[in-house]
Amino acid sequence: MAMTVKLKVWRQAGPKQAGKLVDYTADQVHPDMSFLEMLDVVNEQLIKKGEDPIAFDSDCREGICGICGLVIDGIPHGPDKGATTCQLHMRRFRDGETITIEPFRAKGFPILKDLVVDRSAFDRIIAAGGYISMNAGGAPEANNLPVAKDIAERAMDAAQCIGCGACVAACKNAAAHLFTSAKISHLGLMPQGEPEARHRVVRMVEQMDAEGFGNCSNEGECEAVCPKEISISNIARMNRKYLKAALG
Ligand code: SF4
Ligand code: FES
Repeated sequence: MAMTVKLKVWRQAGPKQAGKLVDYTADQVHPDMSFLEMLDVVNEQLIKKGEDPIAFDSDCREGICGICGLVIDGIPHGPDKGATTCQLHMRRFRDGETITIEPFRAKGFPILKDLVVDRSAFDRIIAAGGYISMNAGGAPEANNLPVAKDIAERAMDAAQCIGCGACVAACKNAAAHLFTSAKISHLGLMPQGEPEARHRVVRMVEQMDAEGFGNCSNEGECEAVCPKEISISNIARMNRKYLKAALG
């Protein structure tokens, strides 16, 4: 049965303009619609009326690319645990419910328009050290470099980070430690990433600080909202490696 929901959506014409919450009504919403499909329908109606559609980011719409990201009723990516905004469905809401939709808010993520923020700071953190160097050529024999199963699994768990930024949006300090530590673990735990390990942690942490992200005070909000359930144990590992590299 179709539902009607009331929306309070953050509208902001540009990076320097003031923004505000604007009320909309979305009717004929099917419970099986995704949250973003519901916004598509609202936008079609706005376009028909000659109004500016609501700007929001999305790409894969299946939880892979990390592009989507809305704060829904105060929670980055909304109420479903371990899921992105694009994986959220309207059946999670009640008929007649009011839903507040805001952008990810952080000094390191300036708002570009409405619900779209600039997350290029994450690209610069990756560029600072998120790589390995090795001789190009044919693929080496896999058995030449044995990797313990638990190490490989920890590296692969960290590699699941999709760079969405929800961890920053959830943190009262707007810290980017969960993202940065996931990238450092993903590369640094594997033997292929060992040669740059010391420089990587120093460069990426310094870039993270330079981008204006805050300090970590172990709140744990980042882990709670992370759609890939990245563990905060990565932050402890990053801090240990950073201290060792900085002191050594
Ligand atoms: S750690 Fe989680 S919340 Fe943060 S950017 Fe990666 S996937 Fe997104
Ligand atoms: S649109 Fe790709 S993760 Fe949501």
